[in-house]
Amino acid sequence: MLLDKSEEYVELNRRADKKLDALRGRTIINLFFESSTRTSTSFELAGKRLGADVINMSVATSAIKKGETLIDTAMTLNAMHPDVLVVRHPESGATKLLSEKVNCAVINAGDGSHEHPTQALLDALTIRRRLGRLQGLKIAICGDILHSRVARSNILLLTTMGAQVRLVGPKTLLPRHADRYGVEVFTDMKEGLEDCDIVMMLRLQTERMKGNFIPSIREYFLFYGLDYDKLGAAKEDALIMHPGPSNRGVEIDSEVADDFSRSVIREQVEMGVAVRMACLDILATQHENAEARNI
Ligand code: NCD
Repeated sequence: MLLDKSEEYVELNRRADKKLDALRGRTIINLFFESSTRTSTSFELAGKRLGADVINMSVATSAIKKGETLIDTAMTLNAMHPDVLVVRHPESGATKLLSEKVNCAVINAGDGSHEHPTQALLDALTIRRRLGRLQGLKIAICGDILHSRVARSNILLLTTMGAQVRLVGPKTLLPRHADRYGVEVFTDMKEGLEDCDIVMMLRLQTERMKGNFIPSIREYFLFYGLDYDKLGAAKEDALIMHPGPSNRGVEIDSEVADDFSRSVIREQVEMGVAVRMACLDILATQHENAEARNI
């Protein structure tokens, strides 16, 4: 249903006049404790295109710099009666904690290495629009799975939608019990990519690494960087995905990233706005109905 609703917004976003008044009078606060380009911009655009008032708060300009706790910030913002809070935070579970303290809807825009649900939704929409389905597709998620909230949310969503998910990466960057997620696990790229419909690359998330996980960038690229040679193991028309920001020459070869006959990286960004519009629309209105019923 969410993906179907997103499809309507894809069409709207391609029109000259992109503005609706579905959320007119509603207030959305984007609260980002971590830097972001794609996610914060697309949530802002999504809210504005639906006619809501959108406030962007980043840590650099808020009282958090002055030592206020997460909960205090949440309570302060809550007192201003927002309808939706969109939160990104470096700690896993922070968004959940915050949602328990406020009485508006809260959207997780990425919490530590835990989850990033709207990224998984936009990835699913991109795949479904390109290949017409998710059921039965072979999807390889490759690279730094251990620190990736994108991987975790995608594993949950894509397996639920009937895809066969594979995780590919060096042992040091795979979660310890990865096989318990209902996925296949590979440490060799060509084996993992064999016959795949989708190759989803992930960034090395060095900001979350405590210690050494790879011998060197050069060696990592040699074994795990996506180049045409490794891509050759996947289906001939396999699509390449990346949530961004991508590091060329680290997890993906520059030429491959720019090969728009195969790479849908730009489309992922486009779908991001549509999916976030659907999430904001559904949550703002559902929450309102719940409040009215005093739930
Ligand atoms: C991802 C994130 O923030 O988790 N980026 C994004 O939302 N587009 C992936 C990443 O930072 O590598």
